[in-house]
Amino acid sequence: MPSQVQLEIKANDLIADKIYKLVLAGNFDLDDYLPGKFLHIKCSDNSVPLLRRPMSVCNIDDAGTEMVVLYRADGAGTNLLAAKKPGQEIDMLAPLGVHFPTEEVKEGDKIVLIGGGIGVPPLYYLGRKLKARGAVIKSILGFNSAKDVFYEKEFQELGLTAITTIDGSYGHKGLVTDLMDTSYDVLYTCGPTPMLKAVQKIYLSNAADGASRVRSGYMSLEERMACGIGACLACVSKSTDPNCTSYNRVCTEGPVFPIHAIEL
Ligand SMILES: Cc1cc2nc3c(=O)[nH]c(=O)nc-3n(C[C@H](O)[C@H](O)[C@H](O)COP(=O)(O)OP(=O)(O)OC[C@H]3O[C@@H](n4cnc5c(N)ncnc54)[C@H](O)[C@@H]3O)c2cc1C
Ligand code: FES
Repeated sequence: MPSQVQLEIKANDLIADKIYKLVLAGNFDLDDYLPGKFLHIKCSDNSVPLLRRPMSVCNIDDAGTEMVVLYRADGAGTNLLAAKKPGQEIDMLAPLGVHFPTEEVKEGDKIVLIGGGIGVPPLYYLGRKLKARGAVIKSILGFNSAKDVFYEKEFQELGLTAITTIDGSYGHKGLVTDLMDTSYDVLYTCGPTPMLKAVQKIYLSNAADGASRVRSGYMSLEERMACGIGACLACVSKSTDPNCTSYNRVCTEGPVFPIHAIEL
């Protein structure tokens, strides 16, 4: 159940260009804090900025006492977050939203994780949980440039990991979609909308041609949010269901959706 909590900062360190690793102490119910759910973080101690910032859970240790959040400090709220020091507390609503479905994943299933930029963090927690269940993890992580790359070593501990950069300064020069193939059972993706759109297109054509073992795919949307709890409709995304004219609230019906279910 989501609730308002105050968590103590254990560390808040720069790990790549503008990318911070925030470590929070708490007592996290691991049946509730599932991969894909998000936190709605109050970045300042006063009312400016007014809106909380949605952030993914990047990891929680097996004891449920330490949570990691990775964020890009590149705006009014996240720059205030970056100035916070160990020992201070952070106020958040948590955990919110719908988690990545994993019930269908069996031992030996091949999983591909496709992340872009600051969409990478929730895939790490997911990959760690799926590896523990015996799934075979492959990760394709895309960044703009070498200075933006983070968590490569951590993903390598989960399985085969490929890095792409747009400018070719590290790993494969190009896009994550250059490295997509059809050798997976379940695909999970999170990243900027143009990347999700390209991944969605390839996934749908793979699934339609019937030539692959592809079983299902899920994406997590990083839509702008205000309330985070379903009340303001700031975060709606259009459903692809022709029988349904309604819009989905990313904060409550998502942020994770079946990859075919949302028109990007
Ligand atoms: C489910 C989810 C998980 C996420 N996980 C992460 C994560 O793990 N790490 C990470 O770094 N980022 C994550 N993001 C993205 C992150 O929330 C945004 O990058 C962050 O809100 C930007 O805040 P800022 O203070 O840096 O930027 P600013 O530009 O100062 O503020 C952005 C905020 O202002 C408001 N806003 C600004 N412009 C508009 C507009 N045109 N329309 C509507 N509202 C606007 C929005 O409320 C938005 O939250 C996630 C987003 C979602 C939805
Ligand atoms: S952010 Fe208010 S309804 Fe989703």
